[in-house]
Amino acid sequence: MKKATKRGRIDKQSWKPGNVLSPLPVVLVTCGGTAAWKPNIITIAWTGSVCSDPPMLSISVRPDRYSYEIIRTTGEFVVNVPSLQQAKVTDWCGMVSGRKVDKFAETGLTPAQALKVQCPIILESPVNIECVVRETLNLGSHTMFVAEVIAVQVSSALLDAKGKFRLEKAGLLSYCLGQYFALGPSIGRFGFSVQKRGPANRGRGPKR
Ligand SMILES: Cc1cc2nc3c(=O)[nH]c(=O)nc-3n(C[C@H](O)[C@H](O)[C@H](O)COP(=O)(O)O)c2cc1C
Repeated sequence: MKKATKRGRIDKQSWKPGNVLSPLPVVLVTCGGTAAWKPNIITIAWTGSVCSDPPMLSISVRPDRYSYEIIRTTGEFVVNVPSLQQAKVTDWCGMVSGRKVDKFAETGLTPAQALKVQCPIILESPVNIECVVRETLNLGSHTMFVAEVIAVQVSSALLDAKGKFRLEKAGLLSYCLGQYFALGPSIGRFGFSVQKRGPANRGRGPKR
């Protein structure tokens, strides 16, 4: 790879340490749906993939959230990826508590049965990731639930004629320093920086 040419000075400011990692996904996490807990939805931006095999992800939740107690006691949740159309309900579910309102009833989002966990999925979300908590880490302001993905559902409407899942067709949402953004068009696929033209490299998927 050619080195970027040095032109001029790049000035920097020093900020106090904080969470500036951006952009982040923003997701609707569903929980509850048991005899003891009604179904609830919490908006979470502090989430990430943490392991490929077994597939694992994490969410970080403040202990004063209504959802915290539900997830801690049931050990289950579903990460529902919102579409761009769901940007407003995504924000709203992060503004009100399930202690006071039924977020499914108020938003009109449809709770549907998950494949392996008791809490519902959000039917309208293009991707639903069912999770079982494996580790609970009390980190300070937030508790991180590290969870194994035990089932995944995707919307069939997003499969193209060749059966490839085209999530971008749903319209994707991200969160960046307090603002929501629509994801723009693809500017390259995994490995494009080293990819040689020709059939040998075509169709290679990422391995992480
Ligand atoms: C964009 C956005 C991202 C958020 N991310 C988190 C998060 O990562 N962790 C968290 O504990 N709360 C987060 N919140 C706040 C909760 O979603 C909010 O307090 C919610 O009302 C809690 O709902 P509950 O009391 O029904 O659990 C976020 C809110 C918004 C709007």
